[in-house]
Amino acid sequence: MASIHVVNVSKRFGETLAPSLREQQRKARVIGRQPRERTAEDAPPEDGVLALDNANLDVRDGESMVILGPSGCGKSTLLRVIAGLESYEGEVFYGGQNMRDVPPKDRGIGIVFQHYALYPQFESKGNLAFFFKMHKRETEIDERVRQTSQIMGLGFEALLGRMPNTLSGGQKQRVAIARAICRNPKLLLFDEPLSNLDAQLRSSTRVEIRRLINRFAITTLYVTHDQAEATIIGDRLAIMDRGRVLQVGAYRDVYAQPANTFVAGFLGVPPMNLFDGVVEDGRIIALNARFTPPPRILDFVARGQRIVIGIRPEDIAIEMDDAPDAGSHNTLRVAFEFVERLPSDRAQLLHATVDGARLIARAPLEREVPLRRPLRLSLPQDRLHFFHSETGMRI
Ligand SMILES: Nc1ncnc2c1ncn2[C@@H]1O[C@H](COP(=O)(O)OP(=O)(O)OP(=O)(O)O)[C@@H](O)[C@H]1O
Ligand SMILES: [Mg+2]
Repeated sequence: MASIHVVNVSKRFGETLAPSLREQQRKARVIGRQPRERTAEDAPPEDGVLALDNANLDVRDGESMVILGPSGCGKSTLLRVIAGLESYEGEVFYGGQNMRDVPPKDRGIGIVFQHYALYPQFESKGNLAFFFKMHKRETEIDERVRQTSQIMGLGFEALLGRMPNTLSGGQKQRVAIARAICRNPKLLLFDEPLSNLDAQLRSSTRVEIRRLINRFAITTLYVTHDQAEATIIGDRLAIMDRGRVLQVGAYRDVYAQPANTFVAGFLGVPPMNLFDGVVEDGRIIALNARFTPPPRILDFVARGQRIVIGIRPEDIAIEMDDAPDAGSHNTLRVAFEFVERLPSDRAQLLHATVDGARLIARAPLEREVPLRRPLRLSLPQDRLHFFHSETGMRI
């Protein structure tokens, strides 16, 4: 059973916490006592970099979870904590078992790193075999390498005798993936495994990885900041920012109902348009226009309160008639400045600046949308998202 439970995990790099306190805290955890709180004398809390800040995550047995977030948000650190490669505060469980004192090599994990991390002194087969030698299971090597080659498919066997420094990036990556699955892991961890490959190889390899995951139903954690990878690889995704897991769910659910402005402004290519507004009697003033929210929204906000309105680019309707229509609600008059064509999506993105804010609308590629001329945009009420200004939380 390899469900993963990350409970209130924090990780601070470069902290100068007194070693005596660190040791006390560790002991208290091992024997299940409440650890002593640290005091001002122990270390200033702003010391170092807080890479994980009370992160929580549950991954179901057999599930593929993608961890998505901007650079520096703590994705790799979270993966390394789960693998047992970093010290941390909080708890990590595999199934029901607390992993605090279980060394990485005994955790049944296969890891694939961005930089492959092949052992340079061994040819590919030696890389696959290393784990079995380390565990004194040499007799299994030939059979496992044979099975793994079969799984890895066409051309893989030809790589087995090659040294890492003679392999291309894509070939190294295949060997690294093979090495991870060869040991029959209960848990597969990937940290941006495709980011050093060119675009074409990236898109074919992510499909291969998805096939592998489907075939074995191994619990998988996959770190990326590529949303296309996230939609293919992940059954669900976890969105991180500044050391915290902000939202977990299937891509389409998180996309439809982002929990806060960070997720709204991150998920989607391009992400949701977000605008500042102010609540007035039964409506919201934003972008020099009036918006009528669904009545339930007004139950949660007071007159004069600031609020953030969001709308996805594809939910903005571009009305061709540009008749003056200043009175109607949920419409804007906007002149687009330039267009970005996306032929493979059969779409175009239209860019504008409205009342100092950037706005992007999406339209079918073949539609002729005039530029630099005011057009009427309609923002349907049921497509609007509302967030608290101070907390960023969805209303
Ligand atoms: N060994 C380390 N020593 C000090 N600080 C570190 C160390 N590793 C990571 N950090 C810091 O911790 C924070 C989180 O880093 P992490 O590598 O987990 O981010 P990430 O989400 O994987 O980013 P990226 O997408 O760029 O790989 C960053 O501010 C980083 O500078
Ligand atoms: Mg990283």
